[in-house]
Order: sequence, then C-alpha cells, then structure tokens
Amino acid sequence: MLISLCDKNVIQYLQTIGVSSLGDDAEYTQLLNSSKKNFNLQVTLAGNRQLLVKQERHIENDGTQQELFKEWVFHQLLQRFPVLGNISAIASLVTHFDEENSILVRNYLTDYLELASFYHHNSYFPEAIPIALGTTLGVLHRATFNRQEYRNFMATAPQGEFRYQFYNPVQGIESIEPKIFSTVPLEALKFYVLYQRYESLEAAIAELASEWRPCCLTHNDLKFENILVHSRWEQLDNCLVRLIDWEACGWGDPAYDLGSLVASYLKIWLHSLIVDPTIELEESLHLAMTPLEVIQPSMLVLLRSYLNAFPMILEYRQDFILRVVQFAGLILIHHIQQTIQDRKYFNNTGLCMLQIAKTLLTGPQQSVLTVFGLSESEITKPFAQLATHHPVDTQENLLRLYYNKTRLRGF
Ligand SMILES: Nc1ncnc2c1ncn2[C@@H]1O[C@H](COP(=O)(O)OP(=O)(O)O)[C@@H](O)[C@H]1O
Ligand SMILES: [Mg+2]
Repeated sequence: MLISLCDKNVIQYLQTIGVSSLGDDAEYTQLLNSSKKNFNLQVTLAGNRQLLVKQERHIENDGTQQELFKEWVFHQLLQRFPVLGNISAIASLVTHFDEENSILVRNYLTDYLELASFYHHNSYFPEAIPIALGTTLGVLHRATFNRQEYRNFMATAPQGEFRYQFYNPVQGIESIEPKIFSTVPLEALKFYVLYQRYESLEAAIAELASEWRPCCLTHNDLKFENILVHSRWEQLDNCLVRLIDWEACGWGDPAYDLGSLVASYLKIWLHSLIVDPTIELEESLHLAMTPLEVIQPSMLVLLRSYLNAFPMILEYRQDFILRVVQFAGLILIHHIQQTIQDRKYFNNTGLCMLQIAKTLLTGPQQSVLTVFGLSESEITKPFAQLATHHPVDTQENLLRLYYNKTRLRGF
C-alpha cells in the first residue's frame, strides 16, 4: 500500500486519478461510520457531486483476494452483462478502483438512507420495503441461477485466469485458545462456554456447512446497514431500495442472503428486549419494545416476494425455507461474536440472542412457524400452485398473511 488515505489527502488523490479536476474544491469531507476493515470518506466536490472513497486497511499478504477487489469484479460483471446491470436495485455505483492501494470510489447517493436507521427512527414496517427487497433478491438469484458464464466471470475476471475458490460462509466458532482471555472481556467467556456446551448446535452448523451448495450470485453480507432506502420511497415504484457494499459477493447459497435479511429483522426485535438477570427469557421476549408480531408481517412478505420472483428454488432445494431460518440463526451467532470482538461487549441481550439462534439452527421446522407465523407447507403451497399456473395470492392467503394474529411458539 503506497497511500494511506485521510481527509487531508483525499482531494489530491481524486485529482491524481482524474476523478475530480484541478479546479474542483472539496466543500467538505466527512468520515462515515468506518468499520475496522475499511476507512470510508464521504467527499463533496464542487457542483455538489458526492463520492464515497473507501480504503481497505488490512490487506493480508497471503494471496487472499482483497475484499474491495470483489466489489470491482462485481461492477465489471454488471457492465459485461447488461441483463444484470439493468436490475436497478443493484446497479453499480463504482467509478474507480485502485488495486495497488486498495481504494474504491463510489457515487454517493444523497437521497437515500440506511435501512437500519430507517427502521430505527421510524419503528414502523411498511410492506413496500420487504416487497422491493424480496423481489430484487429473487430476481438476482433467479437470473444467475446455475449460469456458468456468470460463475466463470466471477472466478476469473479480469485477467481470465482462475483466482480463488468461492468462500463457504458457514463457519462455526473456532475452539477456545488461551489467548482468548486477553482479547475478550470476562463476561463474554460465557458465550464461548455455552456455545461449546451445546453439542446439537455445533452439529447443526456442521450439517449446514456440508449441505452448502453454491448455485447463484450472492451478496453474502445483506444486513440492513448495507441496504439503502430512498427518502421518498412512498412515491416511487422502483429504485425504492439499493443494495450496496458488494465486498463479500461471490457464488453462493441463495438461502444465506435471505437468512441474512431475516436475521436483521430478528435483531430489531432482540435488541428491543428488556433484559435483566431477574427476568426469565420467555418473559423478556414478551416485553420487547418491538415485538415479534410487529416485524413478522415484513418477514413473511419478504419471503413470499422472494419466492414469487424465484419459485423454482423450491424444486431445487425442498428444504429451502428451513435453511433460510437456520442461516438466520447462524448469522445471529456471527453477530454476537463480531460484537464481542469489535466492541468488547456481551450482555443478557447477547445471551437471549444465542438462545434464539440455537433454536433456529436446531429446530428449524418449528422455528419457521415462530418466525413467519405459518408452517413451511403453508408458505410453500401457493408457489407449488404457481408452477401449475394457479394464482399466487388468493384472497384467503392474503387475509392469513396480513391479519393472522401471531402466536409465539417454540421459544
Ligand atoms: N453509494 C452510497 N450512497 C450512500 N450511502 C452510502 C453509499 N455507500 C456507502 N454508504 C454509507 O456508508 C456506509 C458504509 O459503506 P459500506 O460500503 O457499507 O462500508 P463498510 O465496508 O465499512 O461497511 C453504508 O452503511 C452507508 O450508510
Ligand atoms: Mg457495509
């Protein structure tokens, strides 16, 4: 790495690479919520053109591909195959990539806000958003499903030589080593102890990993921080949402992306629990500020919109919905682990999250009912009919979907 980007040198850097001209004066630069991995700068150039400039900080020298490089390859895929590039919600925003310095420049969308903050500030869940999300994801997975040319492109672009094996994101927690005592707070050790005690949990993750069958292009990091919503979403028919941050994308398992979205919804519920050592888990779950009943219709609409766009996935993987729920559990576990590592933090909310994650992973059949309010067969039935050209949403199904009173079962 030759340049270490900061707010002092970013304008000069943009001029050097020709993204902005010499006459351009930056009006301001602002540090965006940079992750540990990346350093992000938002730059406003004259004429109000806004850019996001990202630099990957810690590049392994072990031949592992840089993550920003993956977003660059994804950008090229969209250019090379307009049928994908024309899917507006995933349209590329990348304008420049500097491999040597691991810097990526994107157009910054000023009319959009993160879905995470949208839900946080509004606390209501309009169905237009999960419809747009489910449909976009279903369209992307369907368009790339078993398509060798896209798979090859992702594995070999831009030089034409094979680069890397696609990463299997289904990983459990590695076994505890003595150095853990110096890297995580004392209270977080409980997480590792409990995790190791649950043999059924480790077995479920191992099985999920062995059943991982990459078959289409996947985003692989679809949390609500990586989804943008248009500020005037109510007036729009499309471009309501944009999926960003394609650094983890690859050839993967479609249930993983959908599981990531479900996990993000569940996190809203779990982060709203009233937790206290004197309160039983069951009671905490019922005392949530955002109860499961409130987010459940969104999760169901998300899943149904996805299946509507890509019903044949149910023929390819008959256990698709169970896997979605299991992946959601796994992603919750990864989230707890990430919080411990980044923020040195683990409390009773993390404990509740671990219990829920375990239930999702080890009892997916029952958990489908708890998460979506319908059983697996009730969810899939209309899509089997779709294959034989029957209408997808009968009046009866719609009524069940929107007015069915949620019951908490299984947790
Ligand atoms: N093109 C964009 N338009 C508007 N906001 C963006 C854009 N790209 C990123 N952001 C904002 O910056 C944040 C960090 O960008 P992201 O690419 O997700 O970086 P990181 O790899 O650090 O997660 C996003 O969560 C989003 O809020
Ligand atoms: Mg991100």
